Amino acid sequence: MPFFAVPKIIINYFFIPSIYLFSTAPHPHQAVSKQQHFLTSLSFKKLPSPPFVFSFIFIFYTTSLFQLLLYFFNFSTMVKIFVITYSTYGHINKVAESIVKGLQKTGVEVGRYQIAETLSEDILTKMHAPPKPDLPTIVASQLPEADGYLFGFPTRYGTAPAQVKAFFDSTGQLWAKQALLGKPAGFFFSTASQHGGQEVTVFTSLPILAHHGMIFVPFGYAHPYLFDNSEVIGGSAWGAGTIADGDGSRQPSEKELAIAEAQGESFAKVATKLAAA
Ligand SMILES: Cc1cc2nc3c(=O)[nH]c(=O)nc-3n(C[C@H](O)[C@H](O)[C@H](O)COP(=O)(O)O)c2cc1C
Repeated sequence: MPFFAVPKIIINYFFIPSIYLFSTAPHPHQAVSKQQHFLTSLSFKKLPSPPFVFSFIFIFYTTSLFQLLLYFFNFSTMVKIFVITYSTYGHINKVAESIVKGLQKTGVEVGRYQIAETLSEDILTKMHAPPKPDLPTIVASQLPEADGYLFGFPTRYGTAPAQVKAFFDSTGQLWAKQALLGKPAGFFFSTASQHGGQEVTVFTSLPILAHHGMIFVPFGYAHPYLFDNSEVIGGSAWGAGTIADGDGSRQPSEKELAIAEAQGESFAKVATKLAAA
């Protein structure tokens, strides 16, 4: 609750009405208690007209009521961002942790979800994929609950994995209602190699946003590490990224994670402005 609301509520709800009620001048022949006498002496000797007092009280009441409503309303309408990922080997999940950290810096509410796997356990075992993290699996009908989305996934030949495509294929009902129209979305990604298609993976995912009427929020060059050529650093103006190596042995670097955190923070700011518009 805004700190100034507390004294205002006390004044508006208790002090002003009590002055008015207790200050009603007693009839000359009316017995006056000591207490009433004291209160009367504290208050106006000559009362302003009732319409004036009532409109005064009314204005104060409504402003503080409005503040109270705003307070509860703010709670229920806190900007909510979903971080939705698909990851086979876990690199994207690690980047997502930094994305979430950045989002949380701005005070937005974060929902963390993963996209359902479509491969069988047998195939995943053959691919040496580790177990999935303990995260709720997103279903299309949950998407409208959020004010914005950051989607993270590894590349598959420069496009989103089939698992991600399958999830978006399940959003037809939302598309029919244009339920995601005007909502902001950004991407972060992972490739095996430095030139394995980070940017094009986002580029080939843009039609999905366009058809839903969603607003693509690129990261831009909003972090100095994007100008750093002293080492291999994933990510670009299109979003945060990491490079896993062909055998998955490389883990997201400190610099890549710093870019991811910055993307979370800057995305939250854009989403908050859009939600308030
Ligand atoms: C079918 C398939 C296609 C892939 N295509 C590419 C590619 O085009 N470029 C690339 O750099 N890596 C490619 N990769 C490697 C993945 O992008 C890499 O394993 C992933 O970024 C690791 O992220 P994760 O641990 O979150 O799954 C491919 C992997 C698979 C299984």
